Amino acid sequence: MIGILDSGIGGVTVLREILKQNIHAKFIYYSDSKNNPYGDKSEDEVYSIVKTIVDYLLDKGCVAIVLACNTASAICVKRLREEYPDTLFIAIEPAYKMVHDYNPNGKTLVMATEGTINSEKFLTLFNKYDNHKTILLPCKGLAELIEEGNEVKIDRYLDDNLSKYKDIDIDNVVLGCTHYPLIKKNIRRVLGDVKFFDGSLGVSKELVRQLELRGITFDNKSYSVEFIDSSGNVSKENRFKELMSSDE
Ligand code: DGL
Repeated sequence: MIGILDSGIGGVTVLREILKQNIHAKFIYYSDSKNNPYGDKSEDEVYSIVKTIVDYLLDKGCVAIVLACNTASAICVKRLREEYPDTLFIAIEPAYKMVHDYNPNGKTLVMATEGTINSEKFLTLFNKYDNHKTILLPCKGLAELIEEGNEVKIDRYLDDNLSKYKDIDIDNVVLGCTHYPLIKKNIRRVLGDVKFFDGSLGVSKELVRQLELRGITFDNKSYSVEFIDSSGNVSKENRFKELMSSDE
């Protein structure tokens, strides 16, 4: 069994990519909407929340855990690997290196939570590949609006926070929160035809690589996905299923 966790339904953008890799495992997706958002919480608070979920997933029998949340990854993965040395953790990160590889001189906007942007893990990555044409934009409150699924509020938020970048012709947008790939069309409405980068493909490939490296295989004929939401709100599962079968 493989556990996937996020502070809500955003990690669906990662799970969809993972499922394309043909891993015939049972997946358990843990949506922690009760504690959403992680992005505004202190590092200790996020760690303690994530550790509880990790313990739960390990009790269920997970052999690998994917942190399908940039904030949780940035804050927790180092500590988790120290505390659970036998567990395989796969962690997403904002795809800033991908921008460096594809378009190193492009004007780039990095959108992520405050927790991710201020983390040591992200700042180390950023300083390594900084092209001096990059804007770091902490998007406080945006993941909550996406979680809520309110298009009007999302568009208003993007108008208020992105319009100022309209005239500088941004080339690349790093979607540094797993919720943000769900609003690509809303972002394009404000910024025009930008190129998007996110960490979901990198994480999926790393999961396959690590499973192979450790000789972990699964006997099932196909994959299956179990969904759990910490708030117990049934509408979350419906939204999750809807997003699983869409390209949004
Ligand atoms: N989906 C999350 C991320 O990738 C977290 C959003 C939040 O809970 O603030 O950072």
